[in-house]
Amino acid sequence: QQEAVPTVKDPTSDMAKNARAGSALLRQLRQEKEKRAMRQRFWELGNHNRMGRAVMGDAGKKKTSEEPKKERETVFRSSSAAKTKKKISGEALPVASVREEFLTVVRENQVVVLVGETGSGKTTQVTQYLREDGYSVVACTQPRRVAAMSVAVRVAEEVGCEIGTEVGYAIRFEDVTSASTVIKYLTDGVLLRESLRDPDLDAYGAIVLDEAHERSLNTDVLLGILRDIVTRRRDLKLVVTSATLDAEAFSQFFGGRAPVFRIPGRTFPVETYFAKSVFEDYVDAAVKQILQIHLSLPPGDVLVFMTGQEDVEATCAAVADRVGRVGDDGVPPLLLLPMYSQLPAEMQAKIFEAAREGVRKCVVSTNVAETSLTVDGVKYVVDAGYCKLKVYNPKIGMDALQVTPVSMANAKQRAGRAGRTAPGYCYRLYTERQFKDELLATQVPEIQRANLASVVLLLKSLKVKNILDFRFLDPPPRDNILNSMYQLWVLGALDDAGNLSALGRKMVDFPLDPALAKMLVAARGCSAQVLAIVSTLSVPNIFFRPKDREEESDASREKFFVPESDHLTLLNVYEQWRANSRSDSWCEAHYLQPKALKKAREIETQLEDLVVSKNNDVPLVSCEGDWDVVRRAICSAYFFNAARRRGLCDYVTLLSAVPCHLHPSSALFGMGASPDHVVYHELVMTSREYMKCTTAVEPEWLADLGGIFFSIRNDNPTTTTTTTTTTTKRKRDDAATVPEEARRPPQNSKI
Ligand code: CDP
Ligand code: MG
Repeated sequence: QQEAVPTVKDPTSDMAKNARAGSALLRQLRQEKEKRAMRQRFWELGNHNRMGRAVMGDAGKKKTSEEPKKERETVFRSSSAAKTKKKISGEALPVASVREEFLTVVRENQVVVLVGETGSGKTTQVTQYLREDGYSVVACTQPRRVAAMSVAVRVAEEVGCEIGTEVGYAIRFEDVTSASTVIKYLTDGVLLRESLRDPDLDAYGAIVLDEAHERSLNTDVLLGILRDIVTRRRDLKLVVTSATLDAEAFSQFFGGRAPVFRIPGRTFPVETYFAKSVFEDYVDAAVKQILQIHLSLPPGDVLVFMTGQEDVEATCAAVADRVGRVGDDGVPPLLLLPMYSQLPAEMQAKIFEAAREGVRKCVVSTNVAETSLTVDGVKYVVDAGYCKLKVYNPKIGMDALQVTPVSMANAKQRAGRAGRTAPGYCYRLYTERQFKDELLATQVPEIQRANLASVVLLLKSLKVKNILDFRFLDPPPRDNILNSMYQLWVLGALDDAGNLSALGRKMVDFPLDPALAKMLVAARGCSAQVLAIVSTLSVPNIFFRPKDREEESDASREKFFVPESDHLTLLNVYEQWRANSRSDSWCEAHYLQPKALKKAREIETQLEDLVVSKNNDVPLVSCEGDWDVVRRAICSAYFFNAARRRGLCDYVTLLSAVPCHLHPSSALFGMGASPDHVVYHELVMTSREYMKCTTAVEPEWLADLGGIFFSIRNDNPTTTTTTTTTTTKRKRDDAATVPEEARRPPQNSKI
């Protein structure tokens, strides 16, 4: 089986160990009780604000699910309204001083590498310059959805138009553009998909491949694709931007013909401090550092780097709690603002607004603020030293987000955020020795550590014959590619020769994970139901479980349970929601998230259009209540995630023999006898391995739909599934190395 690609310099180093262990403070705060108390504190602090003591950001008032959904337009209008006081223009940015030179270089060269400090105006200004210089539609890619949305809104304000008119954005399942859009911000994944329909990307006159230094998987693939496109389309201009100085590699990648254009820097010195001793708990260390800055250092805003939503929120809560506890008087007001990708847009916009006079702003962010978004006026940076990386986990056969030490390059970027407008200070919560000994110089690019199944599928449909020969800036390990091809072959997307099968060609039409795409394409007689399931799986949780009403909400959720399937439970909720006119009050009464359900509805509509337009031989049909047909469809796409029961709620995966458990929130949990065979949507590893979203399947289905791995053995008095030795030319080993345990017949088979 494939090894995980190492993403740390030394797995035995302190920082690597701490990353694996996680924050004890975080764990502690995870406890239900603590959380309840935190929320309480949030509220109290919010009330204190009015009395002028501590000021809380909206985090304290966050009750997302209970707020009526605001329409997208109103959200953006209110954010622009908040800014009308400020004159919005990019005239004063460093890039503005070199506008003419830059445009001249672009006129004279087809590909230009643009380097400039974060905040110099690359993302917001360059698209406008190109547009003003006459290039038809200008596209600008972003590795992150948040950045694409936020920057587009900002540029629309600068241009003075409504978002979605001349300036728009497109992220997966959300296209806010129109026929009049001439500046379009989009995620790299969306542009990659557009290249399927429009192989030369003729829709665009100029493309800015932004944040290329971040080396996201899709940006790296786009680099390879655009390298060919620019030779076919001489009229297309390509600007590759990078916040770091190592832009030479990009230039070389385009045959050395792409000049590197540097925006003159205008940065101020940043004094950097290392921790004196080694910290074990980065959340706790950050909280203390924030307080120390706030209570003892001169005015100036703070930017704190955390790894993800959970530790961002935990940090905010702990700081709020302690600011509240420190004496009555003399605590200056602190405006705490969390920032992470799932934060609602209207709250994200707040990080760009200046705090009231005399109030210190403290933004606690994931590494989205490292280069993608610039918070102005930051004087103090606190760098916890970790970030979350998507890493392929060979044990469970899929990508998982892992807390990992940052690289030296990341650390330098983070420190630089403090010196944008004046001299600043950076506090690193790790020692100088750790910086030197334990951090990699640069992060391993995503393409070398992630599962490549979607990318392989996409490249195959772009007629790239031999993916092993595709020109990547940094090629992924051979095993990664082969393993991803194997997964696609198992799903039936590739034929025995490694070419795209008819099924695979259909799967590519859907902007979904290969397995979900297969579920949709292979649905026989129940495409309407599968569509609803796929859509609800594509949004965050549709159930609402407020901390102080766990029992009521659990009871309400149970009423929707379909005992043999979590997938069908989702479908049940979705159908009942529809039957109840999709009403918000109905959601509220049943502890459901109206926002998530509405988003699912939007996704369903888009996928429905695709099914109808692309997939005519699978007409949209309903199984009219015969839900076994739906379970079969689920089985056909997830048979490699099959598990067999070996205890009450304990299972073991059939193909890799990983012990796993029914999740306590599952409909299958504690509903009489658990089924002997299940397939699951994904495995999550918290305190133990839990199957998330599970459906009972018949062993015959596994043999029928996953014949590569399973067959029915009849020599036993009871019919049981067992893995066969059926193998194929390729990857013979994988099927043969199925662990012994998985071959033994299940003990409690009732079939
Ligand atoms: O791309 P680069 O890092 O070079 O800079 P940018 O993102 O174009 O940002 C230029 C300026 O616009 C910065 O001062 C940002 O703070 C500001 N900006 C903003 O106020 N609101 C946004 N949503 C995006 C940028
Ligand atoms: Mg930028």
